[in-house]
This record gives sequence, C-alpha cells and structure tokens, in this order.
Amino acid sequence: MATYMVQPVKLVDVKAGQFSNGLNGHSATNGVNGTHGTNGIHEMKNGLNGYAEEKPEQATNPVEDEDLEIIEDVADPHCVAENPVKISFQDITSAAFLIKSGIQCTPCQRSHLSDMTGMELYLKKEFLQFTGSFKERGARYALLMLSEEEKRQGVISASLGNHAQGLSYHATRLGIPVTVVMPIAAPIMKIQKCRSYGANVIVKGESMSEAKKIAMSIGKRRNLVYINGYDHPHIMAGQGTIGLEIVEQMGMPDAVVVPVGGGGLIAGVATAVKAISPQTKIIGVESDKCPSFTRALEHGGPILTPNMATLADGLAVPTVGYNAFATAVPLLDKMVVVREEWIALAILRLVEQEKCVVEGAGAAGLAAIFSGHLNEFKGKKVCLLLCGGNIDTTIFGRCLERGLAAEGRLLRFCVTVSDRPGGISELCRELAALGVSIKDIMHERAWIRDIFSVEVKVVCETSDWAHSEQLRKVLTEKYSHVVFNDVPMAIAN
Ligand SMILES: Cc1ncc(COP(=O)(O)O)c(C=O)c1O
Repeated sequence: MATYMVQPVKLVDVKAGQFSNGLNGHSATNGVNGTHGTNGIHEMKNGLNGYAEEKPEQATNPVEDEDLEIIEDVADPHCVAENPVKISFQDITSAAFLIKSGIQCTPCQRSHLSDMTGMELYLKKEFLQFTGSFKERGARYALLMLSEEEKRQGVISASLGNHAQGLSYHATRLGIPVTVVMPIAAPIMKIQKCRSYGANVIVKGESMSEAKKIAMSIGKRRNLVYINGYDHPHIMAGQGTIGLEIVEQMGMPDAVVVPVGGGGLIAGVATAVKAISPQTKIIGVESDKCPSFTRALEHGGPILTPNMATLADGLAVPTVGYNAFATAVPLLDKMVVVREEWIALAILRLVEQEKCVVEGAGAAGLAAIFSGHLNEFKGKKVCLLLCGGNIDTTIFGRCLERGLAAEGRLLRFCVTVSDRPGGISELCRELAALGVSIKDIMHERAWIRDIFSVEVKVVCETSDWAHSEQLRKVLTEKYSHVVFNDVPMAIAN
C-alpha cells in the first residue's frame, strides 16, 4: 500500500505579549474577510508572523490510499461560483504591509528591447523571487492570514508548480505544515523543489482538476485549509502587491501587460494599478493553447476550456477563478491570445538581449508585443510582468531552437545537387561564403529519380531574417530544386 507523509505540526511558541497591543481585527488590514486582523502584528514583531523560520521535522503522519479517494461534493468555501468575492485596493495595501519582510521587491527596469519594440519598455522581474515566481506573494499573505488553529492544522493545495513552490517555501519558513498535490504531468524539477522546500508532496491525478479534487478531499478529511492558487481572495491580494511596486518604481505606465492563467495575478495587479492610475490600460495575455479567460469573456463567466500542451504551462488553467474573473473583468482593457512561436521567440530574445531566463508564461507579454497585438502602444510607456523563471532545461533548449526557427535564423532546407565528385562540397562552399553555419547535414541517393543527383538535407543558422532571405535567393538561383521546409514568421527588427 502506498503511503504519503504529512508534515507533523511543529510550531515554535508564539512570543509572550504578542497579542497584547489590542490591535486585533483592525479592519483596514483585514484583507477580504476581516477575521484575522492580528496577523500583521506577528509579522511586524518577528518578521515571521510569530513563528521561527525553521523547517518542520520529518513526516510522521502518513496519508493512506483511502485518503486519496475523491469526495465528490467537496467544495472550496473561498471560491463559490454563485457568490464571487471581489478584492479591494485596501486588501492589497494590507497584503503589501504584511508580506514585506518575506518577499523580494523585484527590480522594474527599462529594457534593452525598448528600441526594438518602439516602446518605453519596463520589465518587472518577478522571476527573481526565491522560488522563481510571483506566486510567493499570494502564498505568504494567505498563510499569514490563517487563524492560529488553521496554522496549526496546516494547509493543502493542488498546483502544477509555481504556486506549490511558493506555498511550500513560505509555509515551511512560517512553521506551517504544508501538503501539495501535483498532477503526474507536473515537471519533475518543480516536484523536487517542493520537496526540498519541506512540503509533503503527493504526485497524483491525471489532470489539474483531478489533483485539485484529491487535494480538497484530503483537506476535508484532515481538516487542512485548501488554498486555491489563483482564486483565493488573499492570493489575489498578495499578487496585487506587484501593481503597487510597479507604480512606485516606474511612475504611471500607459499599459501593464499581465500573463493570465486562472486570473488571480491580473485581478490583483489591475485592482492596485487602476486605483492609483485609472488611465493605465490593463492588458491580459494567454497562449492560444489555453485561452480560458478569453473563452470566459465570450461566455460571460468562467467555463471549462480544454487546454493543450503549451510552453506557457503556468497559464494552463482550464477554468478561470470565479473571484478572479469578477474582480478583473471590470478593470480589463484588452485580452490578447498569442501563438506559441511568439512565446518561444520572446524567451529567446529575453535571454539574448536581457540575460533573463524566463518560462513561457513569463515571456507571454513580450510575445504579445512581437505578435503585433499591442502596436497602439508604440512610443508609450509599457510594463511587462516577467512573472516566472521556472523552465525545464530541456524545454528551454527547445524553446531557444523554436525561437530561432520562428525568427528565421534556424532554417531547414532540401536541395538536389550533382552527384559528381565535388557536388556537395560546392554547396558547402556556397554556404560558407554566405557566412551560414551548418548545424546538420545529410544526403541520400536511393530515392532520387535522377541517378546522377543527390538530395542534401541541411539545418543551418543565419544571423537574421535578411541573411536567411539572401540564402534563399542564392540557392534558388543556383539550384533548380530547393525546398525550404519551414516558413519562418517575419519579425520586425
Ligand atoms: C509564471 C506564471 N505566470 C503567470 C501565471 C498566471 O497567474 P494566474 O493563474 O494568477 O492568472 C502563473 C500561474 O501559475 C505563473 O506560474
């Protein structure tokens, strides 16, 4: 029988006098439900909400197979379709105050890509958070807002990765037992990271929906609070703190471009930014492989949207959050859906031009600019959220190649040359003379009609789009049979 370990409850004693200043329940900082107003005092006094930042001991309390059985009617009381909760600006300022000591205020710097894109581009570098994404903000705030009893019992969530990592890291630092259920498709690197941050990790569920049901069922049986990674009001408020920092760091932007998964990030950021700078446009971006928010807008509310495999795995949420949708929609100016090639190209450009390693979700904003969807902001001040950097190394390698191909810098072609001695070397000389670098070359004779010919397949790298065009021209003029297999996207430089 498979067993899974649950962290034991091990909290370090709350310091004497912690509750003595009578600030219980001060409403301005209570967040959404206003019931846990003492939390800020913990954070203020100890920087750690009253708990020493230490790792819980090894697990003692195994989860048995029967714990994993799904309870069909289990529901999350914080995310109810019929009664969506909207967050307010005050929720976000409360969150900012509470999480300040445990979260990085990440840089928001003018980008080298400004000239290339024709915009005053600023990059908010959230991938520099300790666990590699902005998800820590919401996770820490939601944890700090738990009651003492809830902290003792522990929390549970289901996530493909970034929320799980943020929650695992901060729960462990705060001495709160944490369990995360990750679907079997979750990247191995993210599973290992959660374990290293001290979480009890259960890898189970064919999909996110199944993992979520399992997590909520365990939560119900074990009396653990389920923390939805995009729709819990405290999560949204925590993510909104990015918006406050953006305005403080770059003044009033003309637009803020926000990648959208379940919608918590855009809901929080839009609430913060619009309250201070109502004229700033809020733009949401999704991959065309998982356009759940766009479908929800068309439908008039969250609706199940089957997702396909995407480079932007952080955005692959089949149904957007009810609270997130209700909060974000009135503040949203535009939604953009981008093709994967643009995301791959954006990842490549961010590495080459900015030395930033970001995951697909984090590059979606730049992809929206490259795809021409935001041309109305040429000459304007635009902020892009580089919200995550947790990319699998093999996927990263593939992205770079795809980006090169999309830009027309990696080409694949097939050319028929004479089979007499020197035919192939002549082709190679031609490529060398053009400054084209051969990555791969292969030739075959057996299936060629003309017995005196050979077919040569080449994968090669050029310096840019114009260089590729020059290669095409030279080859088609010289050889009667040349076929380029990929049609690269024309990228304005
Ligand atoms: C890197 C990254 N960017 C953006 C998002 C989207 O956030 P939300 O689900 O709150 O819309 C996620 C969600 O996991 C993410 O991991």
